[in-house]
Amino acid sequence: MRCLTIYSKIFLVLLISVVSVNSLLAAPNSQIKEVVSAEQVAEFLHAILEADRTIYTTHVVNRMQENDVVKADEAWKRETALPLPAQMITLSGLRVKSKGSGLEYRLVSLWPIYEKNRPASWFERTGLEAVTGDPSKPFTGVVQKNGRRYFTAIYADTAISDSCVSCHNAHPLSPKQNHKLNDVIGGVVISFPLSDNP
Ligand code: HEC
Repeated sequence: MRCLTIYSKIFLVLLISVVSVNSLLAAPNSQIKEVVSAEQVAEFLHAILEADRTIYTTHVVNRMQENDVVKADEAWKRETALPLPAQMITLSGLRVKSKGSGLEYRLVSLWPIYEKNRPASWFERTGLEAVTGDPSKPFTGVVQKNGRRYFTAIYADTAISDSCVSCHNAHPLSPKQNHKLNDVIGGVVISFPLSDNP
């Protein structure tokens, strides 16, 4: 080692670290055999959607309204207002859908303010009825669409605050005006394609 210049030593150290980092990175890739179940993937996605919606509601919508900065309004584009949390999830779902990965999510209800949010299939209707009866677990299944298999999970969307209840009950287009706190107002449908070779 004595005959090596300082530069050669630095080079050697760098080379050793690059080789070890590479082997660290390469090893797990070649060894990973486990797969994550579709149920688990849906749970992960639902956790993100739920967290984003809650944080947007509490840290943006409620906070800005309480401080008289800006309100949230359904007509947010016209009014220079914030989109409602339900509109945020719809907008982000449309954007994800437009990317073409096959992943889709949206809010639906048996008593929707808008017809577009009605269950789109027998499966979605059955799922909404199931989670309305038992909101503690999602209704899941595999649906065939255009020759592809989609895992679909429907989670209950519950009136967790008085604002859900008062806004839905007061909306002129709402077909149900007697929602109560903790009632299931609708559901979140999450759907993504499964591998073609099960
Ligand atoms: C200020 C009014 C307002 C509040 C508060 C509100 N919503 Fe909504 N919600 C709407 C509107 C308007 C839509 C329709 C949005 C669209 O699709 O353009 C909607 C849509 C929905 C839908 C889809 C079905 C439908 O009715 O069209 C569900 C489910 C839903 N909201 C649940 C909730 C829950 C749960 C809460 C509370 C955490 C909540 N909403 C709070 C106004 C509100």
